[in-house]
Parts: sequence; C-alpha cells; structure tokens
Amino acid sequence: MTSPVSQPAWRDLQNLAQRLAGQPLQQLFAADVERAARFSCADVGLYLDYSRQHVTAEVMAALQQLAMQQSLTARRTALFTGAVVNDSEQQPAWHTALRAPRTVIAEGLTTAVVHNVLAAMRTCVQEVRSGQWQGFTGKTISDVVHIGIGGSELGPRLVYRALAQPGHGPRVHFVANVDPATLDDTLARLDPETTLFVVVSKSFTTAETLANARVARRWLHQAGAGEHALARHFIAVSANRAAVAEFGIRRMFEFGDWVGGRFSLWSAVGLSIALALGMEVFEQLLAGAHAADQHFLHAPAERNLPIILALIGIWNRNFLGLAGHVVVPYAERLAHFTAWLQQLEMESNGKGVARHGAPLQTATVPMVWGSVGTNAQHAYFQALHQAGTMADIDFILPLAQPDALAGERERQRVANCLAQAEALLWGRQQKPGQEVEPARHFAGGRPSTTLLLQRLDAWHLGSLLAVYEHKVFVQGVIWDINSFDQWGVELGKELAGELLQELTAPGSSSHDAATEALLEQVRRGGIN
Ligand code: F6P
Repeated sequence: MTSPVSQPAWRDLQNLAQRLAGQPLQQLFAADVERAARFSCADVGLYLDYSRQHVTAEVMAALQQLAMQQSLTARRTALFTGAVVNDSEQQPAWHTALRAPRTVIAEGLTTAVVHNVLAAMRTCVQEVRSGQWQGFTGKTISDVVHIGIGGSELGPRLVYRALAQPGHGPRVHFVANVDPATLDDTLARLDPETTLFVVVSKSFTTAETLANARVARRWLHQAGAGEHALARHFIAVSANRAAVAEFGIRRMFEFGDWVGGRFSLWSAVGLSIALALGMEVFEQLLAGAHAADQHFLHAPAERNLPIILALIGIWNRNFLGLAGHVVVPYAERLAHFTAWLQQLEMESNGKGVARHGAPLQTATVPMVWGSVGTNAQHAYFQALHQAGTMADIDFILPLAQPDALAGERERQRVANCLAQAEALLWGRQQKPGQEVEPARHFAGGRPSTTLLLQRLDAWHLGSLLAVYEHKVFVQGVIWDINSFDQWGVELGKELAGELLQELTAPGSSSHDAATEALLEQVRRGGIN
C-alpha cells in the first residue's frame, strides 16, 4: 500500500542513476574483468546474463532493497498460498497451484479441483489420440480448432508452435480473431467429420469467441451433424459452467475464477496442447513451471531469475527512462513468445492507479514488442543500433545440441544472437587516427540481457514461461499495482457493443464527429 517513490531505496536509486549517467556501459564493462561472472546466474535450465545492463553491484543491491521495502516476500507468500492478490475482483491468482504436485498444495479443495481436472483431461486426450473418440460419421479426429482469444489463446498457441511435431497427433488450428477470414480460411481446409472444436473462454461471454463458436456450430450442422452429434465435436473450457450450458456444449473442462486468464495456460485451457502433443508433454510443461516456482520461492534474491529480470526492468523504466522493452527469441519455434509476453506484461502491469486506487506517481510497464531473430535484424535492428536509445532488449537463445552446431544454419542462428548483444554494447570503436563516416558510426552502450535456454522442450519451456510470469508479478509488487485485473479493456468493448447495433440500425445513439463520419463511410461501403 505504499508508493515505491516514498521508499528510501527509491531516492538511493535516483542518486545512483545520476552518478552512472557519466559512466558509459562500455566503461563499466571494461573496468571489471569479473563482470560477466558477477552479473549472471543459472538455474532451472536457464542461464541469465545481465552483465550488459547498465547496472552496478550497488544498483542491484538498492533495487533489491526497494523490492523488500515493497514487501515482496509477504506478497510472494500471498501469491503462493492462494490469498486474495487481485484486490479489485477479490480473487487469488493461484496459477502456481495448477502446476504443483498433489502433495504440495495444502488446500484440499484446490488439490481436488486441479488434479481431478488433470485426470479428466488425461482420459479425453487418450480417447482422442487413440482414435476411440469419433466424429459424427465414426471417423477419428484429425484436426482440433482451438477457439479463444487473449489469455485463452496466446499461451496454448505459443506452446503448440514451440513443441508440435508433425504427425504426432491431431493438428491444432488457433482461431482468435473475429475477422471472418480467420475461421473461414481455417474451415476451408478442414473436414467436418474429423474436426473437434475446443472453445476456450474463462468468462464464456467474450463476443469474438462466441461469434466464432456459433459459426463453427453452423458449419457442422450444414455438414449433416445433428444436434446430438455435436457433442462429439465440441468441448468447452471455462470458469462459467452456466454460460457453457446455455450455449449448448455438453463436454466441459472447468477451471476456477482464481486463475487469471493470462495465467491460465496451465489449466484445461492447455487442453489443445495435450491433445496435439500428448498428456505427458503437457505434464512436463507443468513440471518445468513448478520447478521455476520453487526457484522463485527459494533462490536468494541475488540469484533469483524472475527477481533479477524484474529489477532490471524497473531500473531501465523508472531510473534510466527507457520506454520500450524488446524481446527477441532466436528460435523460429518461439515465434509466438513475444505476443504472449505482450499480454502478460502489458495487461498485467499497464495500469494507471495503485492497488488501492491512488493515482500512480511513477511510470509502469514499458511498451513490450519484438519478434524472432534473425528476421528482426533485417527489420528494426537498424534503429536499435543507431537511433536514440529507447529500449533494452532480452535475447532468448535456446542452445543448439552440440552436434547441431555442425549445421551452417544453426551456427548462423547462434552466432547472430551473440553478435547482436556484443554490437549493441560496444558499438564500433574508432581506432586512433581513423576517420569513421558518421553514418557508419555505432555509439554502443545499449543495454541487453541474454537468456540461454538449455533445450527447447516442454520442461524448459514451462520453466521459461513461469520465470517471466513471476517477473511480471515482482514488478507489479514494486509498482504497488494489481497485476491481475484488466479494467482498461472494458470501455472499448462497451463502445463496440453500441457500434455493432449502429452499423445496421443508424441513429440509435451519438458518437463524436470523427466516429460518425467514419460510420457513414462504413455503412455506405465506399470511400469519398
Ligand atoms: O480482453 C481482455 C480479456 O478479458 C483478457 O484478459 C482475456 O484473456 C481475454 O479477454 C479472453 O477472455 P475470456 O477467456 O473470458 O474469453
């Protein structure tokens, strides 16, 4: 309940930032041969190198002080014990319970809920993957269409893209967007007799998801599936049993209100992952995340991966004034990582008031963006190298297996990642007496973090994602905000609801002049 700016550590950090302003990052690095060792640590299959961040040991100690002054330890306990941490909705955010082994959770009810759902998922996955589950004409399921948006899609889509192996189970197609092109183009490639829809929505009121689900149902009807046969083609995953029943889906997997949407991948929201990859793979994902939970709970702050990532983010945002945070995984299979992280960071910590309603006195989440390397190098890295420093970068590099380095493309993937971080730090050093054309000048001094991932498998991916989840939590604690609500998305939804009517029934309410003019053009379907 305290703004971080009123903490003694905040003032210390401001002073440290002022002092460091005269000390370029390159200088810090060159002055300390131990720097790479001093500012790195490893656990849960991850190696974190933050030696290229513009920090000193003093800065890191003051940041840790700030976290402690903001009661990180007590808040972390509250998170892990299922206490209310989402104040505006009076809910826990107990995603850690979803990946905890049966023995770890003390609360009987939650243990039962989590593990009963996992057992039911196991049965369903076994039925579908073995061919026992059949469509309305007796054929086995070849394709799963996962309908859901935001937290009900981004996590499963990321994991599926990261781990799917062709031919190892049904193909999964993710449909989030309400743009008809998304579902229509997907259905055009599919056979209704062998397609299973998994409709995922915590609230089961999300307009886009329900609209897409209704079209899917019509498609099956039109293909000859009777109302009764639909049960073989629809599964719902939701926290709203009544709404699922009203929609008419009989097979349902439930998760509790105490799971936040963007933290729900570990619940039955991940069903599509398990259908495609097998339940064992899903359980490996949970196990990796649980290992990261234990790390976050028990590792000392100076070697605690999520805490360090969070502190670096606070330093860059609040004390060095960086408004952007770029995330570049050097792995095509992590192509959806940044989109997942955008929701995680920006929906969680993009807030304007503190936990109990006071206006914030400090900036919070930076703009989070990025895409995979090496593609990113050929798009926006020009600006990252030479425009004014506006962002720090997380490089995420899954290690190649040693024999894979024999392959030229693997060598290029790895070498490019390492090269970018080095180039950003050092720039191009001008040799004495050598003239460098201004356009070819690289100032360097641009901060980045490199995170190595032992292997891109389910366990390590679970660990990576949970580390970032906890990073976001720690930052929310320091900023004293509620990281688990998202009221900022509501206004746009309300206005869209009104405009929906007015597209076909003009004049029922009034909007600003720009909206009215745009509506006019839209209704007319022509531009003039
Ligand atoms: O638009 C915001 C949001 O509420 C997200 O927080 C959530 O992940 C997404 O919509 C989908 O919500 P639901 O799972 O209820 O359909």
